[in-house]
Amino acid sequence: MKNEYLPYDDLQRILTTIDELNIYKDVDSILDKLLFEARRISGADAGSIYLIEDRHLIFSYIQNDTLFGDNSGQAEQYSDFRIPIDPDSIVGNTALGGETILIDDAYGIPDSSSCNFNSSFDKKSGYKTGSIFSLPLKTIDGRLVGVMQLINAKDSAGKVIPFTEFSRMLVPLFANNATLAIEKGLMNRELILRMMRMTELRDPKETGPHVQRVGAYSAEIYHRLAVKRGIPTHEIKHYKDLIRLASMLHDIGKVGIEDMILKKPGPLSAREFDIMKFHPVHGAKLFANPASELDKMSRDISLYHHERWDGTGYPGRIEDIDASPPVTGKPWKGKEIPLSARITALADVYDALCSKRVYKEPWPEIKVLDQIRKDSGRHFDPEIVEAFFEIQDVIRAIKDLYEE
Ligand code: C2E
Ligand code: SIN
Ligand code: SIN
Ligand code: SIN
Ligand code: FE
Ligand code: FE
Repeated sequence: MKNEYLPYDDLQRILTTIDELNIYKDVDSILDKLLFEARRISGADAGSIYLIEDRHLIFSYIQNDTLFGDNSGQAEQYSDFRIPIDPDSIVGNTALGGETILIDDAYGIPDSSSCNFNSSFDKKSGYKTGSIFSLPLKTIDGRLVGVMQLINAKDSAGKVIPFTEFSRMLVPLFANNATLAIEKGLMNRELILRMMRMTELRDPKETGPHVQRVGAYSAEIYHRLAVKRGIPTHEIKHYKDLIRLASMLHDIGKVGIEDMILKKPGPLSAREFDIMKFHPVHGAKLFANPASELDKMSRDISLYHHERWDGTGYPGRIEDIDASPPVTGKPWKGKEIPLSARITALADVYDALCSKRVYKEPWPEIKVLDQIRKDSGRHFDPEIVEAFFEIQDVIRAIKDLYEE
């Protein structure tokens, strides 16, 4: 990114961005947008965001033009590390003091300084950190939500320079407005997790990570597939934001299944499985607002996530969704099944096979991948299976981040 003076258009753009941050519903999409725009304003080559949780700074988002460019670095988003809020690190210090820290040259900090630059990221990645702009993300009433760190401001020739007076004024203004959107995004995810925990009372501890993994797998499989299809970036971001949350809700309809069946430790009888097969329909009924894109996608995913590419899934065509019980017919097949549901189907089965359930032990990874490969073109859309196999590094990072 180049550092330029900000004419009227750019100021206009900042206002639009604040507005746009509010169109996103999931916290990852909001952090992506915030970091992108803060880097644009300041000309920063890289940056990361840490959010406060359990009195620690949790690494939550990263961008780095030099290392990742535009469309990669997905696995890095799911890195699992936390930094204590103490004076030992620059971000820790920022959180502790609640004040901006500016460093013109990370490797030129005098030993007498209270701030230490941690060069482990540089050592590992081969990146060279120069200038740093670390700022607290605060709500309007002064509560600390996290820390954003911008790295390596560049001039128009691409040379690393100190952050300008101008970006030191503008970025905090902009960032403080964004904290409201961040909190909203965190709340949306928390709300969904709570809803899902209510459905699977059998083991609330296992539901949270399962749901977050399915959401993240679906979002990243979609991302890969969409990039391969050449879908424009803004469209990818919009859909990815929706699919992450909507696919977290795929099994919400299990709330309508009695515990005797839901929590049964062994295999289901044919009659019990017939009852279980209505969970997509129970779920779909919850999303009735036709004006909400999130409702529409959640409904699609709920209703179609057990349909299969080869037309052998369930519940199939339904004439009247409100009939009790609804009469189900011929299954949907191929691209009749909405894309969001075809993606979630793979994410859900992958996660179910890798995990322990009341009725089964986890399968070894190799056996899971074999099964999915075998089911390409049968249970699953081959284009989606291909995208899934191309992002195994990302899949593994997600699995490690949200482990049981
Ligand atoms: P779930 O546990 O979330 O599993 C989702 C899907 O993952 C399953 O959909 C199935 O396609 C796949 N899957 C999970 N475990 C296995 C497995 O051991 N082998 C194979 N080949 N595939 C597996 P499905 O079969 O339509 O089941 C839907 C839901 O019904 C399951 O959601 C689970 O809640 C329930 N269920 C299925 N079978 C049993 C069972 O034997 N006992 C109990 N208690 N519940 C079951
Ligand atoms: C909503 O989901 O509630 C608002 C409409 C949208 O999804 O854009
Ligand atoms: C597809 O189904 O592959 C594209 C159309 C859609 O978004 O469902
Ligand atoms: C099942 O029949 O329950 C799952 C088989 C598969 O995922 O292919
Ligand atoms: Fe399901
Ligand atoms: Fe599931």
